[in-house]
Amino acid sequence: DKGGHRHFMAKEIHEQPATAAAAVAQYVSPGRDRVLSPAASLDWAGLERVTLVACGTAFYACQVAKWWFETVARLPAEIDVASEFRYREPPLPARGAAVFVSQSGETADTLAALRYARSQNQTILTAVNVETSSMAREADVVLPLYAGPEIGVASTKAFTGQLIALAATAILAARARGAVDAAEEARLVSALCAAPAALADAISREADAARVAAEIARARDVLYLGRGPMHALAMEGALKLKELTYIHAEGYPAGELKHGPIALVDERTPVIVLAPTGPLSEKTLSNMHEVMARKGRVALISDAAGCAAAGEGVWRMLEAPAADPFIAPIVYAAPVQLLAYHAAVARGTDVDQPRNLAKSVTVE
Ligand code: F6R
Repeated sequence: DKGGHRHFMAKEIHEQPATAAAAVAQYVSPGRDRVLSPAASLDWAGLERVTLVACGTAFYACQVAKWWFETVARLPAEIDVASEFRYREPPLPARGAAVFVSQSGETADTLAALRYARSQNQTILTAVNVETSSMAREADVVLPLYAGPEIGVASTKAFTGQLIALAATAILAARARGAVDAAEEARLVSALCAAPAALADAISREADAARVAAEIARARDVLYLGRGPMHALAMEGALKLKELTYIHAEGYPAGELKHGPIALVDERTPVIVLAPTGPLSEKTLSNMHEVMARKGRVALISDAAGCAAAGEGVWRMLEAPAADPFIAPIVYAAPVQLLAYHAAVARGTDVDQPRNLAKSVTVE
């Protein structure tokens, strides 16, 4: 049942304010000033570092989580895609912890990576949507996503659920490590509590995303740029666009542009710049101007202040709600999903079942 939507993906994008609210309700205290997490029993203060492993979109959730663990909890975080991690058999810290992130809980490479970490005496956590899955059964600590069944092959509401579970866990680690005091924890928790409404606001701007998407649908190549957690969202946006529309798309850290990718920029290449107002936005906007100086067609996704700061000459602006930088990665999932979805609709591709892809990759 697509609930009145044309595709499961559309339904699942629109469910996110509700699924995010369900997750937030589980991961914050009733007083909305502390996080609650099944991972509270871990010795976060004693950890040397945390390892996060996943595939595809779930890997980009790990990339955002690395940012949160390192900047908020001051806990070093290593991330890897499961197919690389499992065969490298990396040395892991004594009494370390490893987090496996997955919608299905059955992805073959991620499950094999989990078993390797188990063999190395790591405490195993999994942020997983299907609570009866192999990963959930084999983990020491399960961080549920509360997203409900996800049918569309492209992961949407599970991704925002992963981000919420991992954000809450990073706040927990920050408290345990003394990296935040009670007031700062309450501030972060209140930012997290604002995420569902901010997602609803971002999704309500769907018509704007659809208009830009119809133009992007005609491109041969598309670049996505962002810094910090927005680099992860740039990677996610490019993955979504390529899998749904078969348009060649790449995500880059905005600061890497001049080390090669800027050679790709011409007047035919849309460059999607993710730059919510925050400590990195000025740097990203300056990279955006470098693209514009090479006649790149920039589509800027930012809040009202960021769009105003961008100045003249931006090809298209997609305004997102203003959000605390801590939750911007959750909020900006919506515009990148909507761009890919509507570009696919414009091209007439099979949104819910893209060619060559399966919902759950249970063989390597
Ligand atoms: C992309 C997508 C895939 C999955 C990946 C991992 O939209 O959905 O990249 O994220 O195959 O799957 P899970 O999360 O089930 O381990």
